Amino acid sequence: MASPRIIMKLTVVAARKEPGDVLVIDVKHPRKSLLPPFEPGSHVDVHLPDGKVRQYSLCGDPMDLSRYTIAVKREQAGRGGSAWIHETVAVGSTLPVSAPRNHFPLDIGQGPAMLLAGGIGITPIVAMARVMERLGRPYELHYFTRSRALTPLLSVTEQALDASNVRLHFDDEPETRQDLESLLAGRSADAQLYYCGPPGFMAAVDRAAAHWPDGTVHFEAFQPPERDGVPPAPFTIELRDGTVVPVAADTSALAALRTAGVLLMASCENGVCGTCECGMLEGQPIHQDAVLSKEARALRFMPCVSRATGVLRLDL
Ligand code: FES
Repeated sequence: MASPRIIMKLTVVAARKEPGDVLVIDVKHPRKSLLPPFEPGSHVDVHLPDGKVRQYSLCGDPMDLSRYTIAVKREQAGRGGSAWIHETVAVGSTLPVSAPRNHFPLDIGQGPAMLLAGGIGITPIVAMARVMERLGRPYELHYFTRSRALTPLLSVTEQALDASNVRLHFDDEPETRQDLESLLAGRSADAQLYYCGPPGFMAAVDRAAAHWPDGTVHFEAFQPPERDGVPPAPFTIELRDGTVVPVAADTSALAALRTAGVLLMASCENGVCGTCECGMLEGQPIHQDAVLSKEARALRFMPCVSRATGVLRLDL
């Protein structure tokens, strides 16, 4: 995969509205016929004119590198990035886009894939389904939304995928509803679970899949989980060379490290993109990101949102 530090000025070649206040955008390189390759689950950073960076999953066909496709839901309570894209981006616009990176890899060689999407969480999941289908690998896609009329990318799931692998669940069509507990209660041998969606959906799947073995559950969130309401407390970071960096209650670890002269790359500063990830040697972290798996949490740390109690030794 190309370095995500590469930023390409791509041209918008198609932009169409989809249900659910979603804008689907296709971008191409203005001179090259092929873009850097990507795996299902990958996302790109879109760089906005005010310096903001937003992450969007690639929902197109990973075998078609002539274009990238992203789907942007207008977030009414968002930080303004999606609104800017909806109001400004049109065919012919130039969009600075990073090379893809992947924090949500699909292990094609493993057993059957259970793919669960809530709303706009369909974007990485549909790319996974496309690849499983092309390779003839077993999968089930369950797509949960409030109603058929508000479901983005419905035509893609219906046209690009074998209908026998796809189940649509609409809140307002009782006969289609599916209870997550019963869906995930019985796990077929070697099955792997992949899921993506809004915070309530993520929490519900997390609860329903609590009995699945470690290493079989994979997810990507667009927002970090709800904080537990406990006010942040100060803590201390210790670097490999023994340097001590105090982190005040009202400062992020990332900001404290920057003040101490430790320059880490960062992008979302919201615990969802994985850019600021660093190694952790010892201590009691309070993980608040939406990127690290349970296993990775023993060794990795996201200083833009995560905190700790006492002294945290980082591999910096
Ligand atoms: S900068 Fe995105 S997770 Fe930290």
